[in-house]
Amino acid sequence: MTPTTVLAIETSCDETAAAVATGDETGPGSWTILSSVIASQVEIHREWGGVVPELASRQHLRDLCGVAERALGDGGVAWGDLDAIAVTQGPGLVGSLLVGVAFAKSLALALARPLVPVHHLAGHIESLFLCRPDLPLPAIVLVVSGGHTSLYHLPAAGRYELVGRTRDDAAGEAFDKVAKLLGLTYPGGPVIDRIARGGDERAIRFPVARLTHDDRVAGPPTVAPPGRPRRGDGRMDFSFSGLKTAVARHLQRRRARDPGAIPESELADICASFQRAVIDALLDRAFEAVRRFGARSLGIAGGVSANRRLRELAAARGEAGGLPVVLPTLHLSTDNAAMIAAAGLRRLSAGVTARLDLNADPALPLVSAP
Ligand code: KG4
Ligand code: ZN
Repeated sequence: MTPTTVLAIETSCDETAAAVATGDETGPGSWTILSSVIASQVEIHREWGGVVPELASRQHLRDLCGVAERALGDGGVAWGDLDAIAVTQGPGLVGSLLVGVAFAKSLALALARPLVPVHHLAGHIESLFLCRPDLPLPAIVLVVSGGHTSLYHLPAAGRYELVGRTRDDAAGEAFDKVAKLLGLTYPGGPVIDRIARGGDERAIRFPVARLTHDDRVAGPPTVAPPGRPRRGDGRMDFSFSGLKTAVARHLQRRRARDPGAIPESELADICASFQRAVIDALLDRAFEAVRRFGARSLGIAGGVSANRRLRELAAARGEAGGLPVVLPTLHLSTDNAAMIAAAGLRRLSAGVTARLDLNADPALPLVSAP
């Protein structure tokens, strides 16, 4: 079987990324990442306390050619060696996506190679197969990032069924917003992760909403687990905006009592308690989904899966229940193009390619390969 060499481009948010990978129709066991380059814009956006879309798209324009050339160089691959170009089509910031899509289309045209459109979340999901090609299926995958907190059931490779999602903020967004409330720098996740290490995660009890019924927020259709619901079965949706408000109220009360600066140890307790509340909500739903779908493994992907305490607690729960729990390496957790290459290879072997009038879609729905 001749391997296919793919160049993947990812520009959906604030990382300009390119990767070169090879693989064949036999699937993840054949996937090899030859290079993966990421130019992070974090320093640019930090000054503003969050991603500024206009600045992000301009920076992608500046960086993308160099990042792609470097990915080819690191991978020891020439332009002519490429068999296909994969690109994140959505979801994400439209201006940022457009830079990657226009670049990928130009390359596909110039090299006369197929263009493979990839959904950003399919990339995060497929990052798990780069780390564990034989991930036991059916699996439940929790995608937890700055823009998404969603639970997917994977009955088979390349099939993604949405079973739960956030009704408001994504978990990464909650980390970023709470960090802002605490006067910490953007992005908040890694900072809270670090500060929380010195804190007591049981110091403050922050409430997390448990959704037990449909609400007025209509979202995309989700797949129900097989069998009849049992007493006490909740919905597998998430909500983090109440938790953010609880932290804000705690800080207001605290500042009314004592307007002085928060001492380091108290800050660590707040970070640790907030972080634990998020992790418990994520893992409770994820393990509940595993039980209800009879899944044989649990995958956790996306930027928040880089969280050290989440990794520890997920592994411990998995071990206790005899369930394989798979998390990507830290490089593959946050946005990168290696995961887009993996999803691109998966789609290419299913025969999915795009025409050169492909457009970026900031609200692209995730559909399984045919
Ligand atoms: O997947 P990602 O790189 O980009 C999106 O697709 O959104 O995720 C970024 C999110 C940010 O909200 C960031 O604060 C969060 O992931 N994050 C973390 C950690 N590292 C990144 N959250 C908690 N702990 C971390 N160590
Ligand atoms: Zn992402």
